[in-house]
Amino acid sequence: MLNSSPSPAQEWVAYFQNNAEREGRLPFLRAREAVLTPRQTAAIVRTLQRFQLGESGEGEYLKRFASQTGDAVYCQAIDLFVAEEQAHSRWFGILLRRFDAPALNSHWSDAVFTKVRRAGGLHFELVTFLTAEIVGQKFFAELGRNCPESVVSNVFSQVVRDESAHIAFHIGTLRRAFRGQNQRSQWLWYWRWKFLLAMAIALVCFDQKSAFREFGISRVAFAKSCFSAFAQTAARIWAPAVTMIMAPSPLQEFIRSSGKA
Ligand SMILES: [Fe+2]
Ligand SMILES: [Fe+2]
Repeated sequence: MLNSSPSPAQEWVAYFQNNAEREGRLPFLRAREAVLTPRQTAAIVRTLQRFQLGESGEGEYLKRFASQTGDAVYCQAIDLFVAEEQAHSRWFGILLRRFDAPALNSHWSDAVFTKVRRAGGLHFELVTFLTAEIVGQKFFAELGRNCPESVVSNVFSQVVRDESAHIAFHIGTLRRAFRGQNQRSQWLWYWRWKFLLAMAIALVCFDQKSAFREFGISRVAFAKSCFSAFAQTAARIWAPAVTMIMAPSPLQEFIRSSGKA
């Protein structure tokens, strides 16, 4: 049955459309700076290769699950969200070319992530996306802070900002989907998600060990910041309905916290 009430995803469609212009502001044409050691360059290339592949997905399953909601506006927002992830992949590809390094065609970590997120329906897929967004956001924030190459650092900063918006986008969907959930179901979702997060953190710490080492990033601090972001995200998803009546939407909260009018 068609739902005639306005879709809560409408504001996200406008956000993603407006956000498309940010790519032109990234300093891709700036010459490469000779500030990285050979080992740092190798570590950054390894990072870019993994995430270039990870962000390149077509979102086929996500789009299919979204279409089952019957909300055409949400489907449009999902299309734009997937396009934004693909933009990250494109940016990482540009950075790889700046380092004269090839992109990867496949990697086991990407295959594992794809398999896991397709193991359930829309909400499980969103939870696995949220896990990747949290871990990616915290990792790129650390790398951006510690990488002296200004173009790389600039691109990572924009990706971090985009990932914050993606987290807010999925919070809104899951908050509505999980409303009225009983305690047992909430407990199951919460612990399944926390387990996934722990696995994702371990994977990044293992696979990206050269980046942690070469840029002086603490694995413990990284893991703590991921778990802290997880706790905040979970608290916003499962906030009591009564506190949400007059609360700003996740997009309004994101705009306010990122300082963008
Ligand atoms: Fe991304
Ligand atoms: Fe994202």
